[in-house]
Amino acid sequence: MSNYHIKHLEEYYQVYRKSIRCPEHFWEEIAEEHFMWQKKWNNVLSWDFSKPEIKWFEGAKLNITENCIDRHLATRGNKTAILFEPNNPSELAEHITYKQLSERVNRFANVLKQEGIKKGDRVCIYLPMIPELAISVLACARIGAIHSVVFAGFSATALSTRINDSDCKMVITSDGSYRGPKTIDLKGIVDEALESCSGVNSVLVAKRIHSGINMQNGRDKWLQPLLDEASIDCKAEIMDAEDPLFILYTSGSTGKPKGMVHTTAGYMVYTAYTFKNVFQYKEDDIYWCTADIGWITGHSYIVYGPLANGATTVMFEGVPSYPDYGRFWEIVEKHKINQFYTAPTAIRALAKQGLEVVEKHDLSSLKVLGSVGEPINEEAWHWYNDNIGKKQSPIVDTWWQTETGGIMITPIPFVTPTKPTYATLPFIGIQPTLMDENGNEIKGNQVSGRLCVKFPWPSIARTIWGNHKRYKDTYFSAYENKYFTGDGALRDEVGYYRITGRVDDVIIVSGHNLGTAPIEDAVNEHPAVAESAIVGFPHDVKGNALYGYVILKDVGETRDHNNLRKEINQIITEHIGPIAKLDKIQFTEGLPKTRSGKIMRRILRKIAHNDISNLGDTSTLLNPEVVQSIIDGKKNADNTNW
Ligand code: PRX
Repeated sequence: MSNYHIKHLEEYYQVYRKSIRCPEHFWEEIAEEHFMWQKKWNNVLSWDFSKPEIKWFEGAKLNITENCIDRHLATRGNKTAILFEPNNPSELAEHITYKQLSERVNRFANVLKQEGIKKGDRVCIYLPMIPELAISVLACARIGAIHSVVFAGFSATALSTRINDSDCKMVITSDGSYRGPKTIDLKGIVDEALESCSGVNSVLVAKRIHSGINMQNGRDKWLQPLLDEASIDCKAEIMDAEDPLFILYTSGSTGKPKGMVHTTAGYMVYTAYTFKNVFQYKEDDIYWCTADIGWITGHSYIVYGPLANGATTVMFEGVPSYPDYGRFWEIVEKHKINQFYTAPTAIRALAKQGLEVVEKHDLSSLKVLGSVGEPINEEAWHWYNDNIGKKQSPIVDTWWQTETGGIMITPIPFVTPTKPTYATLPFIGIQPTLMDENGNEIKGNQVSGRLCVKFPWPSIARTIWGNHKRYKDTYFSAYENKYFTGDGALRDEVGYYRITGRVDDVIIVSGHNLGTAPIEDAVNEHPAVAESAIVGFPHDVKGNALYGYVILKDVGETRDHNNLRKEINQIITEHIGPIAKLDKIQFTEGLPKTRSGKIMRRILRKIAHNDISNLGDTSTLLNPEVVQSIIDGKKNADNTNW
């Protein structure tokens, strides 16, 4: 029996039990048989969640790009590694074979070296979804530089915070990006960000939209001429198993974004193994994940996981609505996509468009459908299942996080019977558990609680860049000896998990994690604002949208409230990015507070949800009278259209 590729439910249970009984032995076998090592490990796993410290495959030497590229050259040199589908459908798609990918990554790696980048240096990548993005990620890995990809929808302020936090020496960007009918001046955003980043002395610029941009002498260089001059050979840097591979920022409920650090060997083994099984990838399949490489889904399941399996992975530059809402289905037909992995928010937006745009296209190549990033509601699940999968392609509802590196709870298609809205069973090697509020493990089925994991898996993030204490406090302090996910979940009568959502102040909007604190900080920057509180409320496309309660400094403020709303959202766009804009803003004279001065978000959430019949006990509040005035004032937020 090959433990690498699971094909039946009985086999899943067998392999699962084995992976739990002796995880070290299990992962050693997988690592040994399916990857290329320069030197094997001395010890498979050492861990201590109280420190916390986790090490997998200690002593091993490898380079992840040899696993993702070089080892495929002999057998798959002419196979398409990356299939690039441009924003504009009339521009030709580009097929980059493994051989071409090898040459392009090596050239890029040589350019990085020539520009003074060395093993361990941090490189910020701020690029649209063009081949250079995947190639620069791999080029960093080739030479042991730590990549920090920042999603190219983030603002200049958000970009500079991330560049400074991890002390990046270089930024890789482009002269702009296409987004549907629009172009975006990425280089302008980088220029603005770098005004407050003294550590960056080099900017490499890829040409994409051919706009006239400003190049700063001595700092900025066009990428292409450097690549043209560079050699197609670049020896892979030999890395330790636990050397950092990348940093990727995710929002926390408070404070600055957290730079999650992923290391080399464990991340490689786990993303490759999950990719193979969760998508049941077969040699000639064409796999498409619609995420952006700026998020963890793109790192693990557009770049590393698929390439480690020698797969063909599609990179799509555009958006689902351009030139019309049939674009995804047009691409599925055009490239005969076999596995399609997207987010519930996209499914809901597309479901709204009616079936004509779907029915125009031949979707018969599809075998597996995936969902990620937020809970998928029942209606969206059925729409996806009925109209896209035609009830023939199982939906894998994959639960995981930036911090987990890879998929944690998921059906295995054709193996695990699916159930709408359930992520179903833990993946091989994963030991989830539910905890109650008193710190006790909840045993048995048909229960709900806070989702934790009891045992390390190979791709767990090892720390927060520059702040190990925060890593410990956030993930390992709520429950002794357990990794706390921040999510609530329930377990049904057969042991299937359903993720119910965040239990902290992180709100997932269109599949993007947003912490309320940084958005409140941005709102409070407005000169007229005294204080604010942000909560989520249900939205039929985005899953959640943001509701802001804002206290103005001057109660008699006479300025037009809709203008103020626009200005507040403009500040949010500048500080974070358009994804964090508020859908509703209610101006209020007070916020419900506890006697110790803490805002009672529970009450604000209920009001935003229109669930005011059961607000709980408000008598212990410092200012109980404010609750009724907020309820009365809500219509202002609901009725405005700005
Ligand atoms: O709340 C969970 C939700 O997304 C959070 C992680 O967000 P992020 O780090 O941005 O990673 C997203 C892509 C892996 C989780 O804590 N989440 C993710 N997938 C699901 C989900 N909630 C329900 N069902 C899912 N399948």
